[in-house]
Amino acid sequence: MESLKRTKIKALLQMEPGVEVLAKGWVRTKRGNKQVKFIALNDGSTINNIQIVANTELFDEELLKRVTTGASLAVKGDLVESVGGGQHVEIQAKEIEVLGECDPMRFPLQKKDTTLEFLRSVAHMRLRTNTFGAVLRIRNAMAFAIHKFFNEKGFVYLHTPLITESDAEGAGDMFQVTTMDLKNIPLDKKGNVDFSKDFFGKKTSLTVSGQLEGELGATAVGEIYTFGPTFRAENSNTPRHLAEFWMIEPEMAFYDINDNMALAEEFVKYLVQYALDNCMDDLKFLNDKYDDGLIERMRSVLGIAFQKVTYTEAVEILEKAIADGVKFEYPVHWGTDFQSEHERYLVEKHFQKPVILIDFPKDIKAFYMKQNPDGRTVRGMDVLFPKIGEIIGGSEREADLEKLEQRIDELGMSRKNLEWYIDTRRYGSVPHSGFGLGFERLLLFVTGMANIRDVIPFPRTPKNAEF
Ligand code: 4AD
Ligand code: MG
Repeated sequence: MESLKRTKIKALLQMEPGVEVLAKGWVRTKRGNKQVKFIALNDGSTINNIQIVANTELFDEELLKRVTTGASLAVKGDLVESVGGGQHVEIQAKEIEVLGECDPMRFPLQKKDTTLEFLRSVAHMRLRTNTFGAVLRIRNAMAFAIHKFFNEKGFVYLHTPLITESDAEGAGDMFQVTTMDLKNIPLDKKGNVDFSKDFFGKKTSLTVSGQLEGELGATAVGEIYTFGPTFRAENSNTPRHLAEFWMIEPEMAFYDINDNMALAEEFVKYLVQYALDNCMDDLKFLNDKYDDGLIERMRSVLGIAFQKVTYTEAVEILEKAIADGVKFEYPVHWGTDFQSEHERYLVEKHFQKPVILIDFPKDIKAFYMKQNPDGRTVRGMDVLFPKIGEIIGGSEREADLEKLEQRIDELGMSRKNLEWYIDTRRYGSVPHSGFGLGFERLLLFVTGMANIRDVIPFPRTPKNAEF
């Protein structure tokens, strides 16, 4: 059998009949009668299975008994035109080898219809399902498209550190990194933890954002992007938050907030278009199985310009909605951060298109955002999407040394730890901007999955870090 080279199922399904082929994969289903068995084989290269037709006269009964859902097979046979509907070719089997058996009494993915919730409880096996195959292939296509987009624009892929001493967002929800013996923590004379004894000789954490280091890159080579794991120890058990997620953070010298918004809009539209152009089989599967509005919703964001609205205008819209009887769980008034219910009202009900919110109260945004002349707002931008809410957060950066230092002081942050960052404003400071796209939030949009735990292979959330 091994003299023949294996062909992946995606390629087999596009070939013309009349050749001998070798396929390998996992059994999805087996059905048939005394004379013939039909085996649906999948190898992950596509959502579609190849049908194996096994004439029972040719095969030992014992062998066919071992062909159960989940078992892995190598099948040699002739690729022939399919008589049944559904596929254009199938394999008339001549040799079947069971590579790995799969005990039907114990295999967790026996039942045809397993809920996503159940699959989370067998997360080590759920990757074998059609659903997760589709999600993983779309995830892969999106990662590739992200690199392609920036590469075509001449951006430099910058690798920012995962272990850092800086709390970029100033929100404080960081995972500490230490090699100290937690039962015997070294203390200094004042009784405080003596981090000089720790591995790095200082207090370090997992990064919440690569932005600040990204700014060092952008003010050196012009335009960079990062794409890496990001960690937040916020205790939010929502369908939109992970403790470990992936973020794409472009940072561009000489871009103002308008250039930044234009890039963000072009970027997400490019990714949605790329998914429609390259992942249609998987999208159709997800559309049929979970979310019959998926493909339509994806198309709907492409043809139109995103709606730009200031935070202040958005508050007025929401206050008017409340006056007109719309109920929200959380209150809204100028100065509060919007909840996802407010974001979704603006996008889905009021404007019925993606929204870019700008000019936020400075007190709800990070220290690095450019201050507006009004003294109370900053040049931040959040891109809000249907069904998701915030998918991108970004801003023009405060390029003025004095204003930046003043804001750091106002917020009671330590300038000492940020000297390296402040140096970008001391030496050849330039206007610059950037944003962060949450990779899994994007994936929620392009897969139609409702829970962020279902678009990352190994989710990390409070009290959950399997494998
Ligand atoms: O809005 P955020 O916090 O912005 C930043 O981190 C900036 N430093 C980005 C920049 O300007 N370079 O996060 C950016 C995006 C959010 O819009 C959201 O899509 C995603 O990251 N995100 C999360 N995704 C999953 N789980 C979480 N806990 C997330 N927190 C943020
Ligand atoms: Mg944000």
